[in-house]
This record gives sequence, C-alpha cells and structure tokens, in this order.
Amino acid sequence: MIRVFEPRLTFSDKVSVLNTLFKNNISGTSPTVGEFEKSLSSQFNRNYAITVSNGSTALDLAFEVLNLEKDDEVIVPSFTIISCLSAILRAGAKPVFCDVDEQSWNMTLEKVKEKITNKTKAVLMVHLYGLAAEATSIEKYCNDNNLILVEDSAEAHGQIVDGRPCGSFGHISTMSFYANKHVTTGEGGAILTNDKSFSEELKLMRNLGFVASKRFVHENLYWNYRLGGLQSALGISQLKNLNKTIDIKIKQGDLYQELLKKHNDILTTQLSKWNSVQNHYWVFGVLLKAPKIRDSVMKSLQSKGIETRPFFWPLHLQPVLPKNFKENTTNLDVSEKLGKDGFYIPIGSHISAKDQKNIVRELVDSIKRHEYQE
Ligand SMILES: Cc1ncc(COP(=O)(O)O)c(C=O)c1O
Repeated sequence: MIRVFEPRLTFSDKVSVLNTLFKNNISGTSPTVGEFEKSLSSQFNRNYAITVSNGSTALDLAFEVLNLEKDDEVIVPSFTIISCLSAILRAGAKPVFCDVDEQSWNMTLEKVKEKITNKTKAVLMVHLYGLAAEATSIEKYCNDNNLILVEDSAEAHGQIVDGRPCGSFGHISTMSFYANKHVTTGEGGAILTNDKSFSEELKLMRNLGFVASKRFVHENLYWNYRLGGLQSALGISQLKNLNKTIDIKIKQGDLYQELLKKHNDILTTQLSKWNSVQNHYWVFGVLLKAPKIRDSVMKSLQSKGIETRPFFWPLHLQPVLPKNFKENTTNLDVSEKLGKDGFYIPIGSHISAKDQKNIVRELVDSIKRHEYQE
C-alpha cells in the first residue's frame, strides 16, 4: 500500500530526540520546550510562541483568550477541518461560513466581505493544502475595520506571503505538528502572537492555571495542554529541515501537475490571479469534474494499493452543527463541490517519481472506467 503520507524523519531528528532523552528533559516544563518555542517565534516572526498538545487545542485556546461574547460572529471558511468550528462554538461565538476560491481552494477577501455584518467580530483565516489564503489584504481589511484576525497555519509551515511567513498574520496564529505536517512532533501544536497579555494568559491556560507564587491555588479552571520535551526536541530538529521538506513536496507537486495537465476531467489547485505564493503541496488534491464517482474511484485506487483521503466535508453541512447556525448558509458552492468530489493522493519523501507516474495512470484509468459506467 502506498500511504497517502508518511512523516519525513531524518537521522538528525532522531539524534535530537535521543539527546534530549539522555538529558531527562521529557516533561512539558523542561527547558527543551522553551527552546522549541524560541525557535518557533524566531522562524515565524512573532514575539511569543506557546506550544500545546495539538493544533485543535491551539485553536481552542486562541479563541478562549479572545473573550468573545454570545452574539459575536466569526467568519470562517466552510471548507476546513472541524477543529475550526469547534473552537468557535466552544468560545460561545457564532460561526458564519464563507466560501473558498474556485482556483486556489482558499479564502479570499472578496469571500470574507460577502459575509460581513455589524456583528462580525473576528475572522478565522485558514491556509489550506499548502497554498495560502489572501493573507495581506484580509489582514489589512481586519485592521481597517477593527476586526480580530486569527490565522490557522497548520498546513502552511514555511509558506511566505508578500515576504512574510504564514504564522505571523493577525492577532493570533495557530499551528499543528501532527505527523502529516511539514514540521511534525507526532502530535503537537502552537499558538503564536505579538501580544504579551495574550501570551501570559495562554501559558496559564495550557498549564492548569498554575502560578509560581501560589502553586495549587487556582483562580481559573484551565487545562493541561502541555507539549512534552521529547516532542519539542523533534520539533527543533524538524524546523531546521523544513526547507528541504518543502523542496521535496514542490518537486513532486510540480511533477503531478505536469502529468495531469492534459486530463481535463481532473482539476488541481491553480494559483489564482491574486495569489503570488508558491504551492507547497502539503497535500496533492484532485477534484473530479464528473459528480458522484469520487468514492468509487477512491475504492478502485485502494484495490490497487494506493491510499487516498477525501477532502474536508464542509462545516455548514456537518451533522454536529447546531440548527440555529444553519441559517445563512448560501453561496458555498465551491466548498460543497470540493467536499463531494475532491480527494488527495499520496505525496511525500516515501514515494518516488515512478510511484507518482503509476498513481496518475491508475487514477486516469479508474476515472475513465467510472465515467463510462455512469
Ligand atoms: C487547517 C487545520 N487546522 C487545525 C488542525 C488540527 O490539528 P491537530 O490535528 O493537530 O489537532 C488541522 C489538522 O490537520 C488542520 O489541517
């Protein structure tokens, strides 16, 4: 089976973890965690980085620290992971879904503006699949209109927009270091900000609200979302290898684009006119023009030993979404098409150019067979 992803773990990653193990720096309060946070803040151009247990808890804490109120609206792309929705709902705010761009599958300022009301308080900008949302203009719009901007950079480590790293836009950014991310710690996440008071509160929030002066006396019911020392050691080393990881993905993504360009029934991400960034192909997504054959195509690839994953299911169609947030879910056609007919194919250092050619051959054959049957 060709896995859809494998973590890229180098010899130096393993040495970094072992060195930390020999030093007994394994807990979430060991100095290695602080070192990882320092590397993160310097690489992503932020004053503060607070590591946490994963990208979902990073989003939860980012929204918790904003102190949003019940009727505050947060604009979020419908085409993204459930963690974005749960963070907004847990913070007690109201999710308002915007669509993504047809070519880049990412959020644009135009799509955000369609959903602005006088109750809009914040925007959750998510960079998807290795491309970037329209970060500079969304950030400017939020600043000009007194809106809070939260940036989810889980899928965009190392991505640069107008000379600035993803992870440095808006008031707070979040990251995931899950095993399929370009910087991985197995499980892990971080929150980045320039705001000192946010950073101090976030450190309390992820550490049960412990304060040094009165340990075991608690003013708040907070969480233990700490990242461990061994994970941090892996993260420090992974950050050093990030550019190499991205280079491999770009080369493979470009090869897929080349192999697929003559197949008009398969759509891939194209940079739209506003998008000056380079695609890092965190995943390589394909969108089938023909409706209703996606699941059969995925099944037939599975039978040939090729693992695939469906795209995100749109947030506005999630069964868990409370009824009162289902109103105003119009103009979300691109998210729906992606959710129904999109999936991603294997990419990463575990596959070769020959594997890629085989995958494309099987993909094209399978689509032809199923289109014919339909
Ligand atoms: C855009 C985005 N945000 C948040 C998350 C959640 O991260 P985690 O899986 O570490 O909880 C993910 C995970 O893949 C993601 O892709």
